[in-house]
Amino acid sequence: MSPQNESLNALEESARRDLGAAVKADALEAWRVAYLGRRGRLTQVLRGLSELPLEERRAIGGAANRLKAELEALYQERRVALDEAHVQQVIGGAKLDVTLPGPPLPRGRLHIITQTLRDILRAFTDMGFQVVEGPEIEWDRYNFQALRIPPDHPARDMWDTLWIDYQRDGQRPMLLRTHTSPNQIRVMEQSQPPVRVVVPGRCYRFEATDPTHEWMMTQVEGLAIDEGISMTDLKGTLAEFARRIFGAERRVAFRCDYFPFVEPGMELRIDCFICGGEGCRTCARSGWIEILGAGMVHPEIIANVGYDAERYTGFAFGLGVERVAMLRHGVEDIRLFYQNDLRFLQQF
Ligand code: PHE
Repeated sequence: MSPQNESLNALEESARRDLGAAVKADALEAWRVAYLGRRGRLTQVLRGLSELPLEERRAIGGAANRLKAELEALYQERRVALDEAHVQQVIGGAKLDVTLPGPPLPRGRLHIITQTLRDILRAFTDMGFQVVEGPEIEWDRYNFQALRIPPDHPARDMWDTLWIDYQRDGQRPMLLRTHTSPNQIRVMEQSQPPVRVVVPGRCYRFEATDPTHEWMMTQVEGLAIDEGISMTDLKGTLAEFARRIFGAERRVAFRCDYFPFVEPGMELRIDCFICGGEGCRTCARSGWIEILGAGMVHPEIIANVGYDAERYTGFAFGLGVERVAMLRHGVEDIRLFYQNDLRFLQQF
């Protein structure tokens, strides 16, 4: 049976039956295409009208157009009903309470190393230190030579260096600073005593990474130069720092250590706050945890920057910010800080 001849009654009957079965949005759309679409059954009938004799055309045409309007109305009705049902389903039939608070927005935060650095700098600025900064790309002269580490000095092995392929005016090449100590020289060259500064900054070392070593880390250098500064000042300053950062009950101890730019040189240890000095994994069973290197600035360095070494003395120290953060928060692997895993970083 060709579309033109299909009886409109049969068409209407099947259209209504099919529509009754179209209870989902995609089925409804298929129905619309099948009957009212460009190649739909009713559309075909309307197109075929022109081929009919005038009388028939009038009769069938009128009925077909009425049917078209009817089917379109049914379609609209069903669509509205389906949309409504969808909305009801989405809101679960529950009443919508527009006064409820919206979903919480995730908040950004400061990186744990930034937080720790700020705490450390605050401890020192409260004691009268000024914060200054220096370059990450440094001359060999500042990073080593002016700190009494000449080219062939074995102490160079203490800092595995990342060199930069650049040289100027016969100066030895540049490097990524291996510590913040070059700023001792930079600060003294640019100012007159009394000096009391802390210098935060990133340092770089050419080394294989493991749970306690990273090729990049953050240090804070401290330097105080004045008349009459002695070991007592160094001890008092660092003990106060340890109490502020690690708690009022901390005990501190100094032990001999060697750095070419200080004499005497020492390391600062605090009693282990995990085991209280009994000995545990964190403190390697010693009861003590080393937190920084320090010492009295070598008189030769004081003289070399043009200060009167008879008149002025001073102390310097250098501490690792990641190490402080690890100790304060019980982080066992330094590499976690810079892997940008939000599950780790969001804990702080
Ligand atoms: N610069 C030393 C280091 O990186 C630490 C230090 C600083 C030691 C100042 C003594 C005085 O290991």
